[in-house]
Order: sequence, then structure tokens, then C-alpha cells
Amino acid sequence: MSAVILDGKALAAKMKETVAKESAALPRKPGLAVILVGDDPASAVYVRNKEKDCADCGFLCLDYHLSADTTETELLELIAQMNDAPEVDGILVQLPLPKHLSEESAIRAIAPEKDVDCFTSENVGAMVQGKARFLPCTPGGVMALLDEYGIDPAGKHCVVLGRSNIVGKPMAQLLLQRDATVTICHSKTPNLAEECRRADILVSAVGRVGLVSADMVKEGAVVVDVAMNRGADGKLCGDVLYGEVAEKASYITPVPGGVGPLTRAQLMCNTLAASKNRQ
Ligand code: GUN
Repeated sequence: MSAVILDGKALAAKMKETVAKESAALPRKPGLAVILVGDDPASAVYVRNKEKDCADCGFLCLDYHLSADTTETELLELIAQMNDAPEVDGILVQLPLPKHLSEESAIRAIAPEKDVDCFTSENVGAMVQGKARFLPCTPGGVMALLDEYGIDPAGKHCVVLGRSNIVGKPMAQLLLQRDATVTICHSKTPNLAEECRRADILVSAVGRVGLVSADMVKEGAVVVDVAMNRGADGKLCGDVLYGEVAEKASYITPVPGGVGPLTRAQLMCNTLAASKNRQ
């Protein structure tokens, strides 16, 4: 079998087109404040892409690039200012922050109604209870991709590799809400290969090149690769050994062009929703 490619890039373009249309019909442009602290090159690329997405969707994008030695007080003051800014509907603090800054404090400072990343305790709690104000961006994007291809998680065994607050944990929650049976695996899971082989839908969000090989995948499984790694050749790649796994899976996401664009599209959907709530 050769897997059908789950084209995240195409779906993201479609989602953004819908967002742009809805945004144009609002009295005021939705506004997203993007706060980047320091000079992490990967974060700088992500932030540039978000600026482009805002332009595509007709959003106002307010960019704050703070120096690496920004103090916690300065960062929290900026977040407070954005909470009060009427033209700002969404606030995104790009992670990771430099080591001397507390991510927890920064996230706690964001007004939940502007927390378009769905990182605050209030929004995570609402999401877990099935009353989400915003969908977490990467897991929300993955669910949109499964829906686009008619892949229903109900009754399926889903295995999520990784237990981060940004991806692994909320991914498991969204799959559970769609009536999947979910296993979360992590660095202390014994017999990882065996767990993976039980998956009808396997989502890998670890960040380790070559983690998922064909022998770990059930024939006909759906394989979603959330990771964005640099291979030994310097090229972008995920956790999954794409070539060999694509021969065994029924559906597979490419890296790049799979989940990445959907994370950003979901962010645009969330910003639009935040803006509609505020105008
Ligand atoms: N760093 C890596 N992914 C994300 C994300 O989705 N949101 C934010 N704010 N930072 C990130």
C-alpha cells in the first residue's frame, strides 16, 4: 500500500480563505499581537510566517520584538498593555522564552479572551471539559485535517507520542472528545514500538529524527507527524521515516507541508473568533 498524502498546505490555504472572507465582513480588522523575545532563529521564522498569515487574512498584526535581556517586568507590562489595547483581539507570546523568563508567568498574564494559543489554565480547562473557547492550534489543525479526509477517530485506537502542554496533552483530549480510545506515550514508556503498532491513528510530536519506523506502524494506519526537525542533511523532517512508513500507512502527513501550515491556520481561526467575540 502507498499512503494518501494528507495535504495540510492545501487545507490551510482553504481555511485562511474562509477566515479572510469573514474578516472582511467585520466592522474592524481582527488584530493579533505577536511578542517575540530574543533571537532564536526558529522562532523568528515562525513569527515571520504568522505575519504573512495575518496579511493573507486581512488582519492587523502588531509585532513586538524584544531584546534577549528583556526583564520579566517589562514583558508582563507589555502583555498587560496588549490586554487593554482595544484593537488587539489575540496575543501570542512566542515560545520558548529566554531561560531567565518564566513562561508560566507570561501565559498567566494573558487575558483568557485574547489567549488565541489556548495556553492559559482557564482555556485549557474549558477545552478539557468540551467547552473550548479556542482550539489549541496544532491539535486543532490535526483534527481539521482528519475531518477534511473523512477520517473519524470514533472507536479508533489513537496513540499520541509526546506529552507536551502545547501538543501531546491537548491532542489526546481532542481525540478523546471525538470518541477515540487514546494512549499517550512518552520517554518513560516501555515497549514503545508495541504501543505504536496498536494505533489506528498515530500522532508523533516528539522531535526526534527517525523515531517512527515502518516496523512500529500497523498496516493501514493513519500517521500524523507533528514534529519539525532538521535532518543530518540540514533538511526539515519529522519524527517519522516517511519513505518506509508511507508504504505501510493508509494516510500520512508530509513534513514540511503537513501539520505546520494548519497550526498557523488554526491560529488565524482563533484570532477571528476572538475578534468576533469582541466586536
Ligand atoms: N512555539 C512553538 N509552537 C508554538 C505555538 O504554537 N505558540 C507559541 N506561542 N509558541 C510556540
